[in-house]
Amino acid sequence: MCGIVGYIGDKPSLPILINGLKKLEYRGYDSAGCAIVSGNERMEVYKAKGKVSNLEEKTQNDDACGTLGIAHTRWATHGIPSEINAHPHVSQSGNIAIVHNGIIENYAVLKEQLEKKGYTFKSETDTEVLAQLIEYAATEGNGDLVSGVRRALKLCIGAYAIAVVDRRNPDLLIAARKASPLAIGIGENNEEFFLASDASPIAEYTRKIVYLNDEELALIERGKELRIENLHTGSVDYEIKEVDLDLSMLDKGGFPHFMLKEIFDQPTVLKDCMRGRILEKDGKYRVVLSAVEQHKDILVNAKRFTIVSCGTSWHAGLIGKQLIEHFCKIHTEVAYASEYRYNDTVIEPGDVVMAISQSGETADTLAAIEMAKEKGATIFGIVNSVGSSIARQTDTGTYIHIGPEIGVASTKAFTGQVTVLTMLALALGKARGTVDEQEYNEVLRELTLIPEKIQTILQQNDKIKDIARIFTYAHNCLYLGRGWNYPVALEGALKMKEISYIHAEGYPAAEMKHGPIALIDDEMPVVFIATHHQLYQKIISNMQEVLSRRGRIFAIVTEGDEQVRKMCAEVMEVPATLACLAPLLSVIPLQLLSYHVAVAKQLNVDQPRNLAKSVTVE
Ligand code: AGP
Ligand code: GLU
Repeated sequence: MCGIVGYIGDKPSLPILINGLKKLEYRGYDSAGCAIVSGNERMEVYKAKGKVSNLEEKTQNDDACGTLGIAHTRWATHGIPSEINAHPHVSQSGNIAIVHNGIIENYAVLKEQLEKKGYTFKSETDTEVLAQLIEYAATEGNGDLVSGVRRALKLCIGAYAIAVVDRRNPDLLIAARKASPLAIGIGENNEEFFLASDASPIAEYTRKIVYLNDEELALIERGKELRIENLHTGSVDYEIKEVDLDLSMLDKGGFPHFMLKEIFDQPTVLKDCMRGRILEKDGKYRVVLSAVEQHKDILVNAKRFTIVSCGTSWHAGLIGKQLIEHFCKIHTEVAYASEYRYNDTVIEPGDVVMAISQSGETADTLAAIEMAKEKGATIFGIVNSVGSSIARQTDTGTYIHIGPEIGVASTKAFTGQVTVLTMLALALGKARGTVDEQEYNEVLRELTLIPEKIQTILQQNDKIKDIARIFTYAHNCLYLGRGWNYPVALEGALKMKEISYIHAEGYPAAEMKHGPIALIDDEMPVVFIATHHQLYQKIISNMQEVLSRRGRIFAIVTEGDEQVRKMCAEVMEVPATLACLAPLLSVIPLQLLSYHVAVAKQLNVDQPRNLAKSVTVE
């Protein structure tokens, strides 16, 4: 995963690099480091274990004033988080430094070959192997660094985004990518260039961005025009894009954590997501999605949808399946991208593969759509990050437009994805003639009311904070739901696991009696999502089964529900809505619950251990 930053220009690079790393810390925070090249063959390398703030502290009193530098915040794949394994990795001669995002899969073979040539290694990383390989290849090629990088990368199997500097050349920054993202920001008159894993560290300096494509090498030279080469075919043309990033979204806006801010952002950003897409005249609603308008034939005649995604986006996909089958009557499957990419999937004419991804950079999802594309499927993207790798790989799609999501635990992206899936299913159902007119109007009207309804749930924040205290003592908990609310049970459990480190299982409520019921005792909280919808009476029976075994129930209920309240230790209320929209409301108290449990346990909410926001490795 990792975040990469680079700078070459007329200003000291160190503050720009540190500032950039802080914006990329969501990608990993095992260690941080930078290399600053300052002329006279000087290169300062700084490394610190843990967060970027540790690196900042370490560099504070140093006078590194070089105007060329590269930096890295790590999510370890090869070698424990430690200072030695931190990037940048420096070649044996001490001349070349590199930072790397990705995995060099054949690093062991390359390492063995380099060892035979006399190279020695300090770290356990695959990245150090690449640093030495570049040096070796450059030396073999009469010391030319650019051809050294090119030759070394051709020998690598795996994924990489790299930035390379040489202490003997303060005027050159080299970057390259394959299956890991890299963006280059172009300053005024080519006086400065910025490099980063995404546009967020660049946007405050320049809006002109070039996204590198796979197997491309960028030659960023001081004062010269940017040059990009394909590793195999040579010089290529590139497109400069104007990024439009709301920078206020990148700070906490007065909230103690990004996650809480993003939970509270939901009423506003869901309105942004629907803006211009749901239109109303005289009480008649209509949804217009440009992707559906432009690709109507393919989508209307689709024989099968397959949704590929990971984690929270996979949970949104499970709701998407129900929406598409309900409104469009098209057979829909949902696959974990990591499994799908290696399956012997049969793709037939009329297959549409839909990728759902907040970051647009998830390696498994990207590989899954590449595989489906090769086999002839049409690829539809539901992505948040504009211009991301997945967004660029799809044939068409709909952005969710909920602004950057920084907290590692996904919140507003989930409700944004479900909102887009609802609009998509309705637009397509209408075009296919499979949705009832009255239902179409009613669902769209209700969807526009969701932001206000979420607002009323957020007012229960203090109450949910009190309930959360009970959960801090739990080692396990169970989340149960049915129908539209079953994916919400999975999502609630994932939120609890990832930020509170409490083992939580999400299950279809009726399936509980086939195994998990054995876990129930008076110590394990059981969370039921029991809103007033299909299967309501059946879920009450499932609750009775838990009570009979002395289980303690916490439930999400529809406002005013007295029947369920009597059976529960605590309830969290949500306003009434239509069954198909229930997930958009019932997930909110579960987001708040996991947040408050993590805060009560004094855990790092925005950057939970072992995780990273953007999973750009397999
Ligand atoms: C959610 O809280 C997770 N951190 C994670 O499951 C995430 O949803 C998953 O990695 C997929 O990411 P994407 O949407 O950016 O592709
Ligand atoms: N493989 C490199 C390491 O372990 C980079 C990891 C990454 O991109 O997450 O240091």
